[in-house]
Amino acid sequence: MAALSRREFTHQALGSVLSLSLLETLFQCDAFADGAKPATVKWLNDVNQLGWDLRDKKLSQVEWQKKIEQLYSGADVADFLRLIDFDKLTHNLELIDKGAKSLSVKFPEVEGVPEKLAWGRQIFALKKGRSVVPHGHNNMATAFLILKGSFHGRHFDRVQDETDHILIKPTIDRKFQIGECSTVSDFKDNVHWFEALEEPAFIFNIHVSGIKPDAESTGRVYLDPHGEKLKDGLIRARRVNYEEVTKLYG
Ligand SMILES: [Fe+2]
Repeated sequence: MAALSRREFTHQALGSVLSLSLLETLFQCDAFADGAKPATVKWLNDVNQLGWDLRDKKLSQVEWQKKIEQLYSGADVADFLRLIDFDKLTHNLELIDKGAKSLSVKFPEVEGVPEKLAWGRQIFALKKGRSVVPHGHNNMATAFLILKGSFHGRHFDRVQDETDHILIKPTIDRKFQIGECSTVSDFKDNVHWFEALEEPAFIFNIHVSGIKPDAESTGRVYLDPHGEKLKDGLIRARRVNYEEVTKLYG
Protein backbone atom coordinates (compact mmCIF):
# COMPACT_ATOMS: atom_id res chain seq x y z
CA MET A 1 0.00 0.00 0.00
CA ALA A 2 1.31 3.40 -0.90
CA ALA A 3 2.35 5.50 2.03
CA LEU A 4 -0.14 8.14 3.01
CA SER A 5 0.89 11.73 2.58
CA ARG A 6 0.62 13.92 5.66
CA ARG A 7 -2.36 15.59 4.05
CA GLU A 8 -4.14 12.33 3.27
CA PHE A 9 -3.46 11.11 6.78
CA THR A 10 -4.91 14.28 8.24
CA HIS A 11 -8.03 13.97 6.12
CA GLN A 12 -8.56 10.33 7.02
CA ALA A 13 -7.97 11.01 10.67
CA LEU A 14 -10.38 13.89 10.69
CA GLY A 15 -13.14 12.53 8.55
CA SER A 16 -15.55 15.31 7.72
CA VAL A 17 -15.32 16.93 11.12
CA LEU A 18 -12.46 19.28 11.62
CA SER A 19 -11.85 20.59 15.05
CA LEU A 20 -10.48 24.05 15.47
CA SER A 21 -8.10 22.86 18.17
CA LEU A 22 -6.54 20.30 15.82
CA LEU A 23 -6.19 22.94 13.14
CA GLU A 24 -4.53 25.19 15.67
CA THR A 25 -2.12 22.40 16.55
CA LEU A 26 -1.29 21.88 12.88
CA PHE A 27 -0.85 25.60 12.53
CA GLN A 28 1.57 25.73 15.43
CA CYS A 29 3.50 22.90 13.78
CA ASP A 30 3.83 25.15 10.74
CA ALA A 31 1.77 22.80 8.59
CA PHE A 32 0.06 25.61 6.74
CA ALA A 33 2.18 26.91 3.96
CA ASP A 34 0.26 30.04 3.23
CA GLY A 35 -0.08 31.70 6.58
CA ALA A 36 -3.86 31.72 6.78
CA LYS A 37 -5.30 31.42 10.27
CA PRO A 38 -6.71 28.08 11.47
CA ALA A 39 -10.07 29.79 11.98
CA THR A 40 -10.18 30.67 8.27
CA VAL A 41 -9.38 27.11 7.25
CA LYS A 42 -12.09 25.91 9.63
CA TRP A 43 -14.48 28.45 8.11
CA LEU A 44 -13.71 27.16 4.61
CA ASN A 45 -14.40 23.59 5.76
CA ASP A 46 -17.72 24.73 7.25
CA VAL A 47 -18.67 26.46 3.98
CA ASN A 48 -17.80 23.26 2.14
CA GLN A 49 -19.78 21.10 4.57
CA LEU A 50 -22.88 23.25 4.08
CA GLY A 51 -22.51 22.63 0.34
CA TRP A 52 -22.48 18.87 0.93
CA ASP A 53 -25.46 19.17 3.27
CA LEU A 54 -27.37 20.96 0.52
CA ARG A 55 -26.41 18.39 -2.10
CA ASP A 56 -27.29 15.53 0.28
CA LYS A 57 -30.69 17.08 1.01
CA LYS A 58 -29.89 17.55 4.69
CA LEU A 59 -30.67 21.22 4.14
CA SER A 60 -33.33 22.83 2.00
CA GLN A 61 -32.16 25.55 -0.37
CA VAL A 62 -33.64 28.28 1.83
CA GLU A 63 -32.07 26.74 4.96
CA TRP A 64 -28.73 26.67 3.15
CA GLN A 65 -29.12 30.37 2.28
CA LYS A 66 -29.73 31.24 5.91
CA LYS A 67 -26.82 29.16 7.20
CA ILE A 68 -24.34 30.34 4.59
CA GLU A 69 -25.26 33.96 5.30
CA GLN A 70 -24.68 33.36 9.03
CA LEU A 71 -21.33 31.72 8.30
CA TYR A 72 -20.26 34.41 5.86
CA SER A 73 -21.08 37.12 8.39
CA GLY A 74 -18.15 35.81 10.44
CA ALA A 75 -15.72 35.58 7.53
CA ASP A 76 -12.25 37.04 7.97
CA VAL A 77 -11.99 38.42 4.45
CA ALA A 78 -8.41 39.66 4.76
CA ASP A 79 -7.27 36.23 5.91
CA PHE A 80 -9.31 34.49 3.20
CA LEU A 81 -7.47 36.64 0.64
CA ARG A 82 -4.19 35.36 2.12
CA LEU A 83 -5.44 31.78 1.87
CA ILE A 84 -6.17 32.06 -1.86
CA ASP A 85 -3.06 34.18 -2.53
CA PHE A 86 -5.24 36.96 -3.85
CA ASP A 87 -2.31 39.31 -4.51
CA LYS A 88 -0.74 36.79 -6.87
CA LEU A 89 -4.09 36.01 -8.48
CA THR A 90 -4.76 39.65 -9.27
CA HIS A 91 -1.21 40.75 -10.07
CA ASN A 92 -1.20 42.56 -13.44
CA LEU A 93 -4.91 41.84 -13.79
CA GLU A 94 -6.56 43.56 -16.72
CA LEU A 95 -10.19 44.34 -16.03
CA ILE A 96 -12.68 44.25 -18.89
CA ASP A 97 -14.72 47.18 -20.19
CA LYS A 98 -18.09 45.44 -20.06
CA GLY A 99 -19.45 43.02 -17.49
CA ALA A 100 -17.41 41.03 -15.00
CA LYS A 101 -14.21 39.10 -15.52
CA SER A 102 -14.24 35.62 -14.00
CA LEU A 103 -11.11 34.43 -12.23
CA SER A 104 -10.63 30.82 -11.22
CA VAL A 105 -9.76 30.22 -7.57
CA LYS A 106 -7.41 27.54 -6.32
CA PHE A 107 -7.02 26.67 -2.68
CA PRO A 108 -3.59 25.74 -1.39
CA GLU A 109 -2.86 22.04 -1.21
CA VAL A 110 -2.03 22.00 2.46
CA GLU A 111 -3.29 20.08 5.42
CA GLY A 112 -6.74 20.97 6.62
CA VAL A 113 -7.85 22.62 3.38
CA PRO A 114 -10.60 20.51 1.74
CA GLU A 115 -9.57 18.81 -1.48
CA LYS A 116 -13.05 17.77 -2.57
CA LEU A 117 -15.35 20.75 -2.84
CA ALA A 118 -19.14 20.63 -2.89
CA TRP A 119 -19.37 23.73 -5.05
CA GLY A 120 -17.86 25.46 -8.03
CA ARG A 121 -16.22 28.80 -7.34
CA GLN A 122 -14.88 31.88 -9.04
CA ILE A 123 -14.04 35.48 -8.34
CA PHE A 124 -15.72 38.24 -10.32
CA ALA A 125 -13.50 41.25 -11.00
CA LEU A 126 -15.06 44.51 -12.16
CA LYS A 127 -14.34 48.08 -13.07
CA LYS A 128 -16.36 50.88 -11.52
CA GLY A 129 -19.84 51.10 -13.03
CA ARG A 130 -19.66 47.62 -14.53
CA SER A 131 -22.00 44.84 -13.43
CA VAL A 132 -22.58 41.20 -12.84
CA VAL A 133 -25.54 41.57 -15.17
CA PRO A 134 -29.14 40.86 -14.09
CA HIS A 135 -29.89 37.16 -14.27
CA GLY A 136 -31.70 34.34 -12.55
CA HIS A 137 -30.71 30.71 -12.18
CA ASN A 138 -32.24 27.32 -12.78
CA ASN A 139 -31.54 24.53 -10.35
CA MET A 140 -28.70 26.29 -8.61
CA ALA A 141 -27.89 27.89 -5.28
CA THR A 142 -25.16 30.50 -5.08
CA ALA A 143 -23.54 32.83 -2.58
CA PHE A 144 -21.66 36.08 -3.08
CA LEU A 145 -19.07 37.43 -0.64
CA ILE A 146 -17.73 40.92 -1.30
CA LEU A 147 -13.93 40.76 -1.20
CA LYS A 148 -12.91 44.26 -2.28
CA GLY A 149 -14.67 47.46 -3.28
CA SER A 150 -18.37 48.07 -2.83
CA PHE A 151 -21.43 47.28 -4.88
CA HIS A 152 -25.00 48.27 -5.48
CA GLY A 153 -26.67 44.88 -5.11
CA ARG A 154 -30.20 44.06 -6.20
CA HIS A 155 -32.15 40.85 -5.78
CA PHE A 156 -35.61 39.86 -6.99
CA ASP A 157 -37.82 36.89 -6.35
CA ARG A 158 -38.60 35.03 -9.55
CA VAL A 159 -42.34 34.79 -9.13
CA GLN A 160 -43.57 33.38 -12.42
CA ASP A 161 -42.06 32.36 -15.73
CA GLU A 162 -43.81 33.37 -18.94
CA THR A 163 -42.79 32.61 -22.51
CA ASP A 164 -41.01 35.88 -23.23
CA HIS A 165 -40.99 37.44 -19.75
CA ILE A 166 -40.44 36.61 -16.11
CA LEU A 167 -42.49 38.19 -13.34
CA ILE A 168 -40.09 39.39 -10.66
CA LYS A 169 -40.48 41.18 -7.35
CA PRO A 170 -37.71 43.31 -5.77
CA THR A 171 -36.45 41.89 -2.46
CA ILE A 172 -33.04 43.48 -1.82
CA ASP A 173 -31.75 46.84 -3.07
CA ARG A 174 -28.81 48.28 -1.13
CA LYS A 175 -25.12 48.94 -0.95
CA PHE A 176 -22.86 45.97 -0.18
CA GLN A 177 -19.47 46.47 1.49
CA ILE A 178 -16.48 44.20 2.02
CA GLY A 179 -17.47 41.11 4.02
CA GLU A 180 -21.17 41.36 3.20
CA CYS A 181 -22.88 38.57 1.37
CA SER A 182 -26.02 37.60 -0.48
CA THR A 183 -27.42 34.32 -1.71
CA VAL A 184 -29.61 32.95 -4.48
CA SER A 185 -31.73 29.83 -4.74
CA ASP A 186 -34.60 28.44 -6.80
CA PHE A 187 -36.95 29.55 -4.01
CA LYS A 188 -35.66 32.90 -2.73
CA ASP A 189 -33.96 35.95 -4.26
CA ASN A 190 -33.39 34.00 -7.47
CA VAL A 191 -32.48 37.00 -9.63
CA HIS A 192 -29.44 39.13 -8.83
CA TRP A 193 -27.58 42.11 -10.27
CA PHE A 194 -24.43 43.65 -8.77
CA GLU A 195 -22.95 46.92 -9.97
CA ALA A 196 -19.46 47.93 -8.83
CA LEU A 197 -19.33 51.35 -7.17
CA GLU A 198 -15.54 51.58 -7.22
CA GLU A 199 -12.67 49.73 -8.82
CA PRO A 200 -11.21 47.29 -8.74
CA ALA A 201 -14.08 45.43 -7.10
CA PHE A 202 -14.16 41.71 -6.40
CA ILE A 203 -16.81 39.13 -5.43
CA PHE A 204 -16.16 35.56 -4.32
CA ASN A 205 -18.85 33.30 -5.73
CA ILE A 206 -19.69 29.71 -4.89
CA HIS A 207 -22.40 27.78 -6.69
CA VAL A 208 -24.01 24.42 -6.05
CA SER A 209 -25.43 23.15 -9.34
CA GLY A 210 -27.89 20.39 -10.16
CA ILE A 211 -29.52 20.32 -6.73
CA LYS A 212 -32.51 18.54 -8.23
CA PRO A 213 -30.85 15.86 -10.39
CA ASP A 214 -34.00 15.07 -12.38
CA ALA A 215 -34.91 18.72 -12.97
CA GLU A 216 -33.95 21.14 -15.70
CA SER A 217 -30.29 21.74 -16.32
CA THR A 218 -28.48 24.47 -14.49
CA GLY A 219 -28.07 27.75 -16.26
CA ARG A 220 -28.36 31.51 -16.20
CA VAL A 221 -31.54 33.22 -17.34
CA TYR A 222 -30.90 36.80 -18.45
CA LEU A 223 -33.58 39.43 -18.15
CA ASP A 224 -34.18 43.18 -18.19
CA PRO A 225 -35.50 44.20 -14.75
CA HIS A 226 -36.66 47.57 -16.04
CA GLY A 227 -39.95 46.16 -17.26
CA GLU A 228 -43.64 46.95 -16.99
CA LYS A 229 -44.68 47.64 -13.41
CA LEU A 230 -47.63 45.51 -12.34
CA LYS A 231 -49.66 45.46 -9.12
CA ASP A 232 -48.19 44.25 -5.79
CA GLY A 233 -44.71 45.43 -6.75
CA LEU A 234 -44.34 42.91 -9.54
CA ILE A 235 -42.31 43.71 -12.65
CA ARG A 236 -42.77 42.00 -16.00
CA ALA A 237 -39.12 41.60 -17.01
CA ARG A 238 -38.32 40.75 -20.61
CA ARG A 239 -36.11 37.73 -21.25
CA VAL A 240 -32.99 38.80 -23.13
CA ASN A 241 -29.83 37.12 -24.34
CA TYR A 242 -26.33 37.60 -22.97
CA GLU A 243 -25.32 40.11 -25.65
CA GLU A 244 -28.29 42.36 -24.95
CA VAL A 245 -28.08 42.24 -21.16
CA THR A 246 -24.36 43.00 -21.35
CA LYS A 247 -25.03 45.94 -23.67
CA LEU A 248 -27.74 47.24 -21.33
CA TYR A 249 -26.17 46.63 -17.91
CA GLY A 250 -22.67 45.18 -18.29
FE1 LIG B 1 -25.77 34.35 -10.57
